[in-house]
Amino acid sequence: MSAAAAASAEATPSTEATPSRDALLGRKVHVKVPATSANLGPGFDTLGLALARYDELEVEVVGSGLEIEVHGVGEGEVPLDDSHLVVRAMAHTFARHGRALPPIRLVAHNSIPHGRGLGSSGAAIVAGVMAAKGLLEPEVEISPDGLLELATELEGHPDNVAPALFGGLTIAWVTPDGPRHKKLMVHRGVSPLVLVPEHEMSTALARSLQPQSVPHEDAVFNVSRSALLVAALIQSPELLLAATEDKLHQSYRAEAMPETDRLIRRLREAGHPAVISGAGPSILVLASDPSERADAARLVEETADTAWQALPLAVDFLGATVTPADGP
Ligand code: HSE
Repeated sequence: MSAAAAASAEATPSTEATPSRDALLGRKVHVKVPATSANLGPGFDTLGLALARYDELEVEVVGSGLEIEVHGVGEGEVPLDDSHLVVRAMAHTFARHGRALPPIRLVAHNSIPHGRGLGSSGAAIVAGVMAAKGLLEPEVEISPDGLLELATELEGHPDNVAPALFGGLTIAWVTPDGPRHKKLMVHRGVSPLVLVPEHEMSTALARSLQPQSVPHEDAVFNVSRSALLVAALIQSPELLLAATEDKLHQSYRAEAMPETDRLIRRLREAGHPAVISGAGPSILVLASDPSERADAARLVEETADTAWQALPLAVDFLGATVTPADGP
């Protein structure tokens, strides 16, 4: 659905095809959503990579109330009411189809770290949109562009939600008719390593450090590197070090995450293509093979002042899935 059509749908929602609350009762779905790393160095708000670490949840339409259980990451921390991000995304998707969110029971098993630049909020939003899609089927069909639009409306930028929805390497861009994406397969040699510190970083704070304008030569620098990065990731991993250079965001954010900045410099001096993962503070190393990945993890273990968790993660090529779940 286009932005204009979505706005119009909000004003006069059509319930023609949307299943009634009675028809929804008892429907139950299972949703699985990958972690993501956005930006990948030069591709600010544009490039993203899906990684094989997942949040999973089951949602069932019940007779009354709202029941939420969270296990794993976020347990005891995230709200268990209608402000829960998955529930908000579900309600947003139902509203676009002219219905209030019915009573649900939601059980989440999370393993994507929160506040670390691995797309946990994007994953929660995508989980909610996909859960709603699964419950509304088969009466309602939501197109891939429609899913991306719903998720981007809540996330604000498409570079995490696109790979979370579709998997692989995604290029996302915004048009007057809404966000769009192109999915690409990554060269099989690319071996991502994510290094996760104990502390969190607020995306809002990171974004507040961005300048309103940048020198034209810096913009040209990033255009060249982000174009090269697509080629390096799908075809020529030996170019990844040059292709992950950036002048648009990382230096502006460095003061808010000094250890991330210092470790990225050390890794890059040693020849490893290291960048801030999303808005940080985690580091993504786009190693060219598993032995380089091990070298990079060792370097961080030996030189970091604080504890960093090393996660060697495969690229996820499937993206988010929703399937009917068995009854209670
Ligand atoms: N592109 C976004 C940013 C990703 O760097 O702010 C984090 O949500």
